[in-house]
Amino acid sequence: MGDSGNFSELFTGVDRVNLVPGVTPLERGPILDSGVQLWVKRDDLTGLGVGGNKVRKLEFLCGSAVATGAHSLVTVGAAQSNHCRMTAAAGALLGMEVHLVLSGERPQELEGNQLLDALFGAQMHFTGEPDHYWGALELVRESVTDALVADGLQPYSIPIGGSTAVGALGYVVGYLELSQQLAELGIEVSAVVHTSSSGGTHAGLVAGQAICRAVGMPSPPVIAIGVAKGVVIGSPDVVSLANEALSLLPNCPVGIEVVAADVVVDGDWLGDDYAVPTQEADEAIRWAARRGGWVLDRVYSGKGLSGLLGRAARGEWASGDDVVFIHTGGVPSVFATDGVPSL
Ligand SMILES: Cc1ncc(COP(=O)(O)O)c(C=O)c1O
Repeated sequence: MGDSGNFSELFTGVDRVNLVPGVTPLERGPILDSGVQLWVKRDDLTGLGVGGNKVRKLEFLCGSAVATGAHSLVTVGAAQSNHCRMTAAAGALLGMEVHLVLSGERPQELEGNQLLDALFGAQMHFTGEPDHYWGALELVRESVTDALVADGLQPYSIPIGGSTAVGALGYVVGYLELSQQLAELGIEVSAVVHTSSSGGTHAGLVAGQAICRAVGMPSPPVIAIGVAKGVVIGSPDVVSLANEALSLLPNCPVGIEVVAADVVVDGDWLGDDYAVPTQEADEAIRWAARRGGWVLDRVYSGKGLSGLLGRAARGEWASGDDVVFIHTGGVPSVFATDGVPSL
């Protein structure tokens, strides 16, 4: 289980299942041209179903599902959704039927995340909608959920990206775990940068930051690189989601609060839209592969790292500063059509 060490009592009494086998590695990366030391938190290695950030959220979402006596999981995402793939794996592990509502048409041959969805035994419902028609996808999730309720299947239905307050708890754990790794290494970093799409990872991270700040630990700022138009224009409201997540921790001291200044979303690296490749992300993908052996994808982590590298090149941090990039995963989509940039 992702370890939050001394903070573990914070999670006492919160429904959770064990999906992350341990602490994910924190690797020292190259020193950038600006003199900044890059660190990479390997949340692509969260273990379950080829890994990625959603496994942390699913520990709490599935904990809640089990506690409510659910027999099945329903969720929704883009055609190559990593969240859907990890939900399929969690359902397989827990013996729950999984229904995935996906954008696009059923392809002739499944590839990337969809191939794994099928391998994990999930049922896929293709909507025919484009990737970013999130509202339409959510409506289909609701109708699939209603049909399962009518069949007496007791579904636990998870909104896009697992970005509820319950799901965000996974990244409260993530921030606290990272803080403890940094404390053990004796490093104080200038920023924690990650890719943001449905906002739950971001909400959990800033909630973790607020906890560290309250107990007098270093609490480096979190910078979210937005890869979907919604998060870039402030939807969801990350401050509210983070505070709602904190309210779910019965042992969280009162007065710990996320404030608007904690939430930084940089939309400069999105390009034309969600899942539309950018030159900067393609360069970041090649750079990461050739400098660290890291595999990033074109929808999420490639754009996220392009934001970190771009901000470093603009001189945001001083030479000698340390900055963490949370590698949130996305590896299976590399094996789908157009999953890698030209080499
Ligand atoms: C690889 C990867 N990185 C980052 C994210 C963004 O996480 P969130 O939806 O919590 O903002 C996702 C979401 O699907 C993802 O799959």
